Amino acid sequence: MIGRVTVASLLAFASAVRGGTTIWDGSFNPFTTVADFDNWSWANEVGTYQWYIHGSEPTSHYLALDPSYKNPADTAETHGLRITIDSTATWNSNMERAELIPQTTQNLGTGNLFYHFSLMHDDTSPPDSTLEHQIFFFESHFTELKYGVAPNPTNLEWHVSSQPQWSTPFVAGQWYNFAYDIDFSAETVGLWASNGSAPLTKVANNIAASTSTNSEDFHVGILRIVNTPTPETWYVSGVYIESGPITTAIGSGTSSPAPPGSTSVTPTTPPTSTVPVSTPVSSTTSASGPAQSQWGQCGGTGYTGPTVCASPFTCTAVSPPYYYQCQ
Ligand SMILES: *[C@@H]1O[C@H](CO)[C@@H](O)[C@H](O)[C@H]1NC(C)=O
Ligand SMILES: *[C@@H]1O[C@H](CO)[C@@H](O)[C@H](O)[C@H]1NC(C)=O
Repeated sequence: MIGRVTVASLLAFASAVRGGTTIWDGSFNPFTTVADFDNWSWANEVGTYQWYIHGSEPTSHYLALDPSYKNPADTAETHGLRITIDSTATWNSNMERAELIPQTTQNLGTGNLFYHFSLMHDDTSPPDSTLEHQIFFFESHFTELKYGVAPNPTNLEWHVSSQPQWSTPFVAGQWYNFAYDIDFSAETVGLWASNGSAPLTKVANNIAASTSTNSEDFHVGILRIVNTPTPETWYVSGVYIESGPITTAIGSGTSSPAPPGSTSVTPTTPPTSTVPVSTPVSSTTSASGPAQSQWGQCGGTGYTGPTVCASPFTCTAVSPPYYYQCQ
């Protein structure tokens, strides 16, 4: 149902300001120390991020904040986030993960939205290009970055529904800025990118994808497949979600506040999406035991958990042979 604010007046507002409107701001400015991420829990859903996808060590083992951890071009942010993955970081499976999820009442899956973020690694604990990494992804993997996969394992690759579309060499010490250009109405996704302080440019045109989100499945972080003891560090800043038109300047997007009453505008339900093409997993274990729930792992190298999905979900090859998921 459309709220009182009409689409026309919303468009008029959007064109009156520079760039679009920030509908969720993932700046790390409100987080003075990483202990602040622990304020959030399922029983107390406060702040701007959910923090539950991580290993058993204290939060300070996986997250750190420092002015040197952000893209220096991003003057809107006081500090960036360093994310560490190691063998303690397994969560809900044998995969190593440290991921934040937006905490918001906004609808993050309607209209044309731009999901912004900047990413860097350095030479201290670089990512292992022999292992697959899934970076800034949605549960259905309709858009994500990958590292350590074909056809260019040392590149940062943009994938749509697990198919490579665009990539760039992933050079240590260089900041990479991205925006996923997601049209939830047309069910297409494209990519904007730049390096360092350069403004974003569109590097890949929108293509069809099963765009959908429940507004709680944008993974701001890293998933590494599969276990290795070697720690890796990644640096993240400039995270925000904007309704179009896109802000291409780095660091200015978070300064545009949401218009008054915009939280009451979030109207439409995400479009019904088609299920991604799935490959059935040949089960090597007995079919008895508990069924896996939606988005849970159901197969893959080294996986020993349930291989049967709860109805009506299907075990889908997300990253064969490493990872199969109930969708
Ligand atoms: C976390 O909780 C502390 C103590 O109540 C508070 O001072 C701090 O501002 C909170 N952090 C965030 C990011 O909300
Ligand atoms: C970013 O830098 C990489 C590596 O130096 C380069 O190959 C790529 O073309 C650059 N990308 C953009 C969008 O400028």
